Amino acid sequence: MIKKTVEKALNDQIKAEFDSAYVYLAMSAHCESVNLGGFATWLRLQYEEEMAHALRLYDFVNIRGGRVTLQALAKPPATFGKPLNIFKEVLKNEQKVTGLINKLYALAIKENDYPTQVELQWFISEQVEEEKTAGDILEQLKMVGDHGASLHRMDRILSKRGLEQQ
Ligand code: FEO
Repeated sequence: MIKKTVEKALNDQIKAEFDSAYVYLAMSAHCESVNLGGFATWLRLQYEEEMAHALRLYDFVNIRGGRVTLQALAKPPATFGKPLNIFKEVLKNEQKVTGLINKLYALAIKENDYPTQVELQWFISEQVEEEKTAGDILEQLKMVGDHGASLHRMDRILSKRGLEQQ
């Protein structure tokens, strides 16, 4: 059985993952509206990943005999500016999520909750990857600057996300 302190923290993390998902979907909608279909595709897949993270924690709470309680989600902005600004926000968001996961892990240690520690190790590795990916795209966007042709080439590259393994 899961302790109430850990259950509450996991429920808060479920909300944080859904919030992330919602922000990425809003970013995707913004990119669709400015004809950056590749960026929109990449962000939509990121939305799906965040939904999967939320549901992974949702299932974990249930498996442990805890109670999932869903919370109201934050309203995301409608516009996000240029791709460079979007990816600054993506990286910032991932760094924020990393901080939350680390705090949650520290709580699981404090509460001697070993199963939660094992579950969170997957998330810790995932965050390393997510920060790296967002950081790499951000660096590329800094190099591209306002050069339209290069931006469209990046848009084409990002449109291929999810096709790599097929
Ligand atoms: Fe679920 Fe990208 O953090």
